Amino acid sequence: MASFEPILTRHIHREDSHTLSGYKNVGGYKALEKMFKTMAPDEVIEEVNASNLRGRGGAGFPTGVKWGFIPKDSHKPTYLICNADESEPGTFKDRLLLNKTPHMMLEGMIISSYAIDCHLAFIYIRGEFYQEHKILEKAVEEAYATNLLGNDILGSGFDLEVVIHRGAGAYICGEEMGLIESLEGKRGWPRIKPPFPAIEGYLRCPTIVSNVETLACLPHILNRGADWFKSIGSEKGSGPKLYCISGRVNNPGVYEEPLGILLTDLIFKRGGGLIDGRELKAVFPGGSSSAILRADEIDGLRMDFDSLSAAKTMLGSAGIIVMDETVDMVSVCLNIARFYAHESCGQCTPCREGTTWLVKILNRIYQGNGSLNDIDMIFEITDNIGGLIDFSKGSFGKTICPFGEAVAWPIRSFVEKFKDEFIAYVAKGVEVS
Ligand SMILES: Cc1cc2nc3c(=O)[nH]c(=O)nc-3n(C[C@H](O)[C@H](O)[C@H](O)COP(=O)(O)O)c2cc1C
Ligand code: SF4
Repeated sequence: MASFEPILTRHIHREDSHTLSGYKNVGGYKALEKMFKTMAPDEVIEEVNASNLRGRGGAGFPTGVKWGFIPKDSHKPTYLICNADESEPGTFKDRLLLNKTPHMMLEGMIISSYAIDCHLAFIYIRGEFYQEHKILEKAVEEAYATNLLGNDILGSGFDLEVVIHRGAGAYICGEEMGLIESLEGKRGWPRIKPPFPAIEGYLRCPTIVSNVETLACLPHILNRGADWFKSIGSEKGSGPKLYCISGRVNNPGVYEEPLGILLTDLIFKRGGGLIDGRELKAVFPGGSSSAILRADEIDGLRMDFDSLSAAKTMLGSAGIIVMDETVDMVSVCLNIARFYAHESCGQCTPCREGTTWLVKILNRIYQGNGSLNDIDMIFEITDNIGGLIDFSKGSFGKTICPFGEAVAWPIRSFVEKFKDEFIAYVAKGVEVS
């Protein structure tokens, strides 16, 4: 594993990393000064485009391209929303940034706002992040007190207000359209796309929604240039990446490495290998919404958007959950089905009803009362929620938002890849009765 110097987490072990002075002492807000002195908004967009930065919230969409979608001739205001709702199981990277270096994300928000001509930005923070909310409030206060926010920031003539909004504990409010509805004071029900938020988002005005980690990359891109950023990782994805490793590993935690690092390096080197020297059975590479990979599928697999999609899964939130040989796949599958049934917003029939049926059927199998028909039924239901999963044809999507696929893909992958375990549960039940 080649040596790599952390960029986003380099100073997080300093006691004062979360304060304004702590951030400034290590070069914080220098990118902002440079930008105001030397760059027009279009030049910022060009630089970010050239850096090949792709969103870190899950979908991996290029940030500069998204900015470019904002209509040039719009008479409406433009908004920026920082998505700090982080609720994907197995994911805790944004939380680290919010806790340890909130000013890096704030600096990114000011840079992004300047680029898209936004003068009112929001931070939508997960309701359960109580401590992070307190830290963020203090950071925003410090920024206002030192003219990093407010009117005529650092004498640049640019104005920006930032408002923090706390969520109320709904996973679906991390989905950008659900988040926007919630921010508008409504029930967090995702809207159909298109129109995408860059055209019609908050209050039906052009809105950019960006993940915490994405925004935290921006100061570094302006400070050190697009070419430097692009030189990290591979052509398939540039820059540093925060990976969350949890489950049956010796050293769970958040690790910063380049995009495109080998999954095996993350599990066996950074994660310290499996507890008690056990055998690897399977892994979620990108949170519980990604299809699982069996141990025999991960050799040589790189953690970037394209390599994982070629492996019929996704980088998603980079929440790597490691399962060892002792893990009962039927039980884990039931557990995640319960999560999705609980978190479905209930707008679309296939998602609302399908997730409930999946729990009932999986529970039946788990309790030893299932049949082989139940296993086929899981495939049918997941097809109905998430579309027929044929990645070569791109044939998926039957619901208003991608939550449908986020349920269908992992559940289907459990049954497809560990069918024998589901059959064994059915057989056990038959023996007992
Ligand atoms: C069900 C669901 C939950 C999501 N939760 C989050 C989340 O907690 N945080 C996040 O940044 N993106 C989340 N996303 C992705 C957002 O919709 C959006 O793509 C992202 O915030 C855009 O930021 P980026 O371009 O920086 O990645 C979620 C998507 C779905 C479908
Ligand atoms: S797919 Fe599920 S979560 Fe998304 S809008 Fe439909 S019901 Fe709601």
